[in-house]
Amino acid sequence: MTNQRADIISYPEFIKKSKKPVVGPAIWKWEDVHPRLMNEPSGAVSLVNKDVGESGGVSPTLNALFQVIKAGDKERHSHRHTNVALFLVCEGEGYSMIDDEKLEWKKGDLVLAPAWSDHGHYNTSDTEDAILFTFQDVPLVSEMGNWFIEEPTGSMPKHIVKKSEKVTK
Ligand SMILES: [Fe+2]
Repeated sequence: MTNQRADIISYPEFIKKSKKPVVGPAIWKWEDVHPRLMNEPSGAVSLVNKDVGESGGVSPTLNALFQVIKAGDKERHSHRHTNVALFLVCEGEGYSMIDDEKLEWKKGDLVLAPAWSDHGHYNTSDTEDAILFTFQDVPLVSEMGNWFIEEPTGSMPKHIVKKSEKVTK
């Protein structure tokens, strides 16, 4: 072979390699998630289904996280990414700026930030934290090699990939 990375295998072997493990149902109990979230220095925790393996989502194509928007947090955190984000408001009230549209929210509301939309979330309460539950398609976008993040919006977009090891003889 001219390249150590290149290989040729039989098609049946390829079919075997392409089979993915079956992902079983899972439940994350609020009594486990909430204290973990409140003690997490980054302010966000991700839910993982161990059946998914390395990529760490809840299913092979979806990931889910809880994030806290601190009381009085009105700083601009605008950013964008090639994954979609769908936010369910679990606690608190505030607003999101999504592509210059102001979307006000409170508990129970669902907010969509489409792929590559500029977005940031702001807590309008000075006393109550807000908690957002977020669904994303990061595992899918990442698997396709198309995961880009621009943070803050207007900065150089980053292609989010793991550098592959150099293959030597
Ligand atoms: Fe985001």
